[in-house]
Amino acid sequence: MRMVDIIEKKRDNHALSKEEIEFFVEGYVKGEIPDYQASSLMMAVYFNSMDDDEATHLTEAVLNSGDIIDLSAIQGIKVDKHSTGGVGDKTTLVLGPLVAAAGAKVAKLSGRGLGHTGGTLDKLESIPGLSVSLSNEQFIEQVNDINISIAGQTASLAPADKKLYALRDVTGTVPSIPLIAASIMSKKLASGSDAIVLDVKIGEGAFMKTLDDARELSRIMVKIGRNFGKRVTAFITDMSQPLGYAVGNRLEVIEAVQTLQGNGPADLERLCTEIGSYLVRDAELADSSDAARELLKEKVSNLEASDRFKQLIKAQGGELPDLNDFVDVKGIVSVKSESEGYVKRLDALSIGLSAMRLGAGRSTKDDDIDPNVGIVLNKKVGDKVAKGEELAYVYTNKEGIDDELKTILDAFEITGEHVEKPPLILEIVE
Ligand code: URA
Repeated sequence: MRMVDIIEKKRDNHALSKEEIEFFVEGYVKGEIPDYQASSLMMAVYFNSMDDDEATHLTEAVLNSGDIIDLSAIQGIKVDKHSTGGVGDKTTLVLGPLVAAAGAKVAKLSGRGLGHTGGTLDKLESIPGLSVSLSNEQFIEQVNDINISIAGQTASLAPADKKLYALRDVTGTVPSIPLIAASIMSKKLASGSDAIVLDVKIGEGAFMKTLDDARELSRIMVKIGRNFGKRVTAFITDMSQPLGYAVGNRLEVIEAVQTLQGNGPADLERLCTEIGSYLVRDAELADSSDAARELLKEKVSNLEASDRFKQLIKAQGGELPDLNDFVDVKGIVSVKSESEGYVKRLDALSIGLSAMRLGAGRSTKDDDIDPNVGIVLNKKVGDKVAKGEELAYVYTNKEGIDDELKTILDAFEITGEHVEKPPLILEIVE
């Protein structure tokens, strides 16, 4: 087999065989296929796409490039959740302990934030002492003890994806639906869970900008998962504005705790209950999504969900300080509305990038982050605002942030007409 023939086949819009896809992935990981040929193939896929079989073969080849986590030592159905990334997305911090309290087994491998999107590991590591580097034994033992572990992905998990993603990132080939689907699903399948809910974000702050693209990505990922015998559901959810009010690591941990105690923002609470109800149903802990939803509400009201978060923190070596003393910043500056009306638009991408520049995120993967800083929104789309009323509070350790405050103000569009709150869950693909 020759790589140039594979490139030409895809360039001419033909489907690649399983063997051809394996030849490419194996050769690329071993360094036998150079970057210029791999990038040429990625660009051909970007333009001519892949059918479901090709996307499945690519997923399998990437999955087989590394370790597949063996969770067979954990009794019961293992559940997982993946978000395509967003701003203020602290869903895992809420959902994990919530479904674990309901009896589901959550063996979760998470990632770090990059650019405008945050990462679960950074949020967890903002808790003093907490470690996300667990050995395989610790990881499994902890799930057997308290139903939940959250650890960092190791380099041995789908290494082909790491290499391919780095190449796609610098060759303009990230936004290809089959490539995104194979990238996400190879890592999810390597993580070893039985039931997976995918949260496909759509909007300014997300990879997918249109509903049609989000639907197609969801459909392919569900299909790939089913081809591997997993229970997979995809939620398509709004990311045109941040999720919840808090953006920034410790600020998001506080909001997650409040949500687990039943005092969180309505959108975050709803998303966690809905995704959670599918996970609990798929884990066969309830007969229907309705029964699952009731079970989850009970776990919040009897404080078992928030207790489970505390157990998770303790098991991983952390200690959550009093929430009033958790965030330590030099200043909290408010951004005030210059007009009255209703919030029509709140640009998630812009808020995410501002939070990153304040120090809450990374612009390159080696940047350090400041766990204390971030933005707490006071208004969201559909809310009424008076002139001079606070739109957001900026938690900062930096001086001279006037430009940033202006950017945050500009992220809000205020209109004189009444605005409906946008729907949060747009579709569920099963
Ligand atoms: N997230 C991933 O893990 N991979 C992609 O290709 C895009 C988003």
